[in-house]
Amino acid sequence: MTVDAASTLERDVVIIGAGPSGLSAARELKKAGLSVAVVEARGRVGGRTWSDTIDGAWLEIGGQWVSPDQTALIALLAELGIDTYPRYREGDSVYIAPDGTRTRYTGEMFPVSAETEAAMNKLIAVLDELAALMDPAKPWDHPQARELDIISFHHWLRAQSDNEEACNNIGLFIAGGMLTKPAHAFSALQAVFMASSAGSFSNLVDDNFILDKRVKGGMQGVSLAMAAELGGDVILNSPARTVRWQDNGDGYLATVVSDAATVTAKRVVMAVPPNLYSRVSFDPPLPRRQHQMHQHQSLGLVIKVHAVYETPFWRGEGLSGTGFSAASLVQEVYDNTNFGDDRGTLVAFISDEKADYAFSLSPEQRQREVTASLAEFLGEAAKEPVVYYESDWGSEEWTRGAYAASYDLGGLHRYGPDQLTPVGPIHWSCSDLAAEGYQHVDGAVRMGQSTAKQLIAELLPGHP
Ligand code: FDA
Repeated sequence: MTVDAASTLERDVVIIGAGPSGLSAARELKKAGLSVAVVEARGRVGGRTWSDTIDGAWLEIGGQWVSPDQTALIALLAELGIDTYPRYREGDSVYIAPDGTRTRYTGEMFPVSAETEAAMNKLIAVLDELAALMDPAKPWDHPQARELDIISFHHWLRAQSDNEEACNNIGLFIAGGMLTKPAHAFSALQAVFMASSAGSFSNLVDDNFILDKRVKGGMQGVSLAMAAELGGDVILNSPARTVRWQDNGDGYLATVVSDAATVTAKRVVMAVPPNLYSRVSFDPPLPRRQHQMHQHQSLGLVIKVHAVYETPFWRGEGLSGTGFSAASLVQEVYDNTNFGDDRGTLVAFISDEKADYAFSLSPEQRQREVTASLAEFLGEAAKEPVVYYESDWGSEEWTRGAYAASYDLGGLHRYGPDQLTPVGPIHWSCSDLAAEGYQHVDGAVRMGQSTAKQLIAELLPGHP
């Protein structure tokens, strides 16, 4: 439905979406001297980052960790004067094998049989080699792009190895851990791209690397700080409904109609994930290629579980709080105790088909089964949290899943080369389309900054 908006604004650029990508774009455009307006559907900024207090517990409901390769985000944090702190990782991790055996271990390699360890190392080496051959900005140019994109990651793993435990464990790092889709639902090329975007597959396996640091005050603070700089140019509670544009010969004229404002501008930045593009009416309609492409990009599904205890009781047992099991309901668990907090917080992830199962239960039964799964890793005390909360991004109208979007089988090499092609004045910017930092806040920031750079070159030729 197109809503007649209350106020009419004229700007150089209108940005749709006040997540980290849209706000990074707006900030760079404004620094260059261009005028901007950011229209945001929700009553808050930050998109998939959201730091809030629930039942007296302060929680990172969305994105939170920073890894050393995420240099655009690290630089932005420094610019905004926001500090980070290391994730707690002292003590033993726990691995639960397919037969339910629980083993404490240290280091990165799961405590598996020598045969499974060799099979896992072989798969890691092959994935590292494939990722090294990929430019994350052009996964479709990989020498084996088509071959890898027409086979599911599940089947590709099994073509490399007949060790089922090794295939499931390696699958976990990409399927449950990142794309949050079953390994049969995306291609091997998409998996190699995920690894290449993070520097290597070995980086994804190394939780000390990929989950290195947290942000003091919360990851949403990055967006809140950028929005504070932009002041009244950020318009909340204002979903964009229609984007109209025409080419006047001497330039584009675009009009974005949102609930609280109609903005005319020379350029439009769609800073929302691709699964939401079709929530907006485009006039003229987007080209066939875009219509098709966007139907092949979808968000994964993961439940981020927060369980808060009076104390981080697992530390007293010499446990780090880290646990992995491809076979359990909870596939990953970490100590997520907040900076300076006396209470202990665990964060756990339940991904894709396991999330389907968990959501089929009543909330009470789900909590019982999830905390029982936590107890298998960390002991009986895990069954009695003082605060229990599930981040359910699949129910959020303006996101519809977590963590981010990926292509279905064959989609990455088929459509990827066109995913950043502007349509008239409309540019695309979100973590889901990033090269480095794909699916992460770092990628969102990189995309915002590179989109801004492109628009500055177009609108302010000669700008340094
Ligand atoms: P994002 O989705 O954040 O922002 C888009 C904005 O557009 C939203 O605010 C939305 O409301 C708005 N919008 C949508 N449609 C609109 C319309 N029609 N009109 C106006 N506004 C509209 N990353 C990381 O680096 N470390 C981590 O640990 C994690 N962990 C993690 C956990 C969970 C549970 C989630 C959900 C996500 C993560 N992530 C993460 C991912 C990270 O949060 C994500 O990649 C970025 O927030 C994406 O930023 P964008 O700005 O691209 O989109």
